[in-house]
Amino acid sequence: MISNSKRIMEPEAMESIEEVAAYDKLTLKYLTILHNGFIETVINASPDCGNFLEVGCGTGRISIGIAKYTENISLTGIDLSTNMIKVAKDNAKEEKVDEKICFLCANGNKIPFENNSFDAVFCHNMLHHIKNPLPVLNEMARVVKKNGSFTVRDLIRKSKLIAWMHVNFFGLTYNKLMKEEYKNSILAAFSKKEWAEIVKKINIDNLFLTSQFITHHGIERSAKNKRNNNINIPLTSFIKKILKDKYVS
Ligand SMILES: C[S@@+](CC[C@H](N)C(=O)[O-])C[C@H]1O[C@@H](n2cnc3c(N)ncnc32)[C@H](O)[C@@H]1O
Repeated sequence: MISNSKRIMEPEAMESIEEVAAYDKLTLKYLTILHNGFIETVINASPDCGNFLEVGCGTGRISIGIAKYTENISLTGIDLSTNMIKVAKDNAKEEKVDEKICFLCANGNKIPFENNSFDAVFCHNMLHHIKNPLPVLNEMARVVKKNGSFTVRDLIRKSKLIAWMHVNFFGLTYNKLMKEEYKNSILAAFSKKEWAEIVKKINIDNLFLTSQFITHHGIERSAKNKRNNNINIPLTSFIKKILKDKYVS
């Protein structure tokens, strides 16, 4: 559903240690299914070896998941928040993948790597924190190799009423703080119409708009040399069906 209401921005970086801890708890408890769907999409759209970059990695759960399900891949995760990066490093150690991932504090608006450095570049649930996402998307386009994969996914903005309904349905078991954060993220996100306009302005070829269920939309491009052997992360078949990418253009 397209929202006519304007975006209500959230703070850009998630900086306080309480917020970071709460977010990590939320990802582990409730977002694994969402994360697994995205992890599977990134892995299957990308080569089976090389260097991957995550922009806005938060507490690192997506890069950690990719490291666990693959071999021969080196990952870098960047985030504006020093506390997110600190927790991401601890999480990678705890999950025993710290040798495969380098987490560092950096701004997606100015990615500290050379042109054409990465075989896969991806970004999940981060763009709704940013007023103008184009500099970040164009930085991602700059650092991905010419034939590399490009995968972005984020929430779809809804009206206040629909956001409230989503939060109380999909976030039924969330606590008060989590519900508030979820609602604020939906209201800060881009509408489908805005998303379609953004994709036209990214300096990279062969992008597709995608949608996942009624909650998320994405921007995707598979690598020319993507892996032959697709990986399959266990999810219930129902969840898998609704999370499956639907190409909309
Ligand atoms: C909602 S979290 C998502 C984290 C992770 N991608 C996930 O899906 O679990 C958004 C993250 O984007 C980060 N962020 C916001 N603006 C950023 C920027 N300009 N550059 C890098 N990271 C940024 C925030 O600090 C926060 O950690």
